[in-house]
Amino acid sequence: MKKKLIIANWKLNGNKVSILNFLNLLNKHDIEEKCKIIMSFPVIYLYLAKTIIYKKNIFLGAQNIDVNLSGPFTGEISVNMLKDIGIDYVILGHSERRKYHKESDTLIAKKFELVKKANLIPILCVGENKEEKKLGQTQEVCARQLNSVISICGPQIFNDTIIAYEPIWAIGSGETATPSSVQKIHRFIKEYIKKYGFVNSDKISVQYGGSVDENNVAQLLYEADIDGVLVGGASLNYNKFKKIIDIVNAF
Ligand code: 13P
Repeated sequence: MKKKLIIANWKLNGNKVSILNFLNLLNKHDIEEKCKIIMSFPVIYLYLAKTIIYKKNIFLGAQNIDVNLSGPFTGEISVNMLKDIGIDYVILGHSERRKYHKESDTLIAKKFELVKKANLIPILCVGENKEEKKLGQTQEVCARQLNSVISICGPQIFNDTIIAYEPIWAIGSGETATPSSVQKIHRFIKEYIKKYGFVNSDKISVQYGGSVDENNVAQLLYEADIDGVLVGGASLNYNKFKKIIDIVNAF
């Protein structure tokens, strides 16, 4: 059985105390072998987090990297810097970065390639907005976002990577996509990558994100192609997050 992933995206939240408290509790919590947790804190706290975590199935992820490796790029962080402090995962192409930082499909694809070359694991976010959903363009949007990675990085780049399907309208809205509709698009994503990226579906993990909480996670994970969840708001509250872990543990 493929490991079920729970990725927590803290976005622009948290401080030293809240992160230490959270990790001290998480370290003590039972996490089954089949379950893997990736905590994605703001980058400034990742090194501190790294020194605190001692459970072997808790990993750390960054929320972004720069498209350059070094040089005169004030304020940026490179993938090699993340590697230097022992970070394993990088979220790329989150819709908030696409929207507020105008990140294009091409820029995201270049970052994807850098992460793979550094032997870290990219978590590529894809997904449609409300208007595109209304127009029935979900598959088309996801295919376009996957295509840019395939065309810049070449087929097979998706080996051992994570895709997060995050419909934009479901993020932070309390409105989750129905498990059956998520299943359908996850199947589509896996088939698409298999066909155009020449990757065996077992070599990619497809997560769902968008208003996931302790009340809806079980229904989502019953679906065959939902390999885990990417949790925003509910991951900030330890009790809610613990309940999500317990539900995943029980699968
Ligand atoms: P919410 O769980 O708050 O909807 O956020 C989802 C998300 O954007 C995770 O990356």
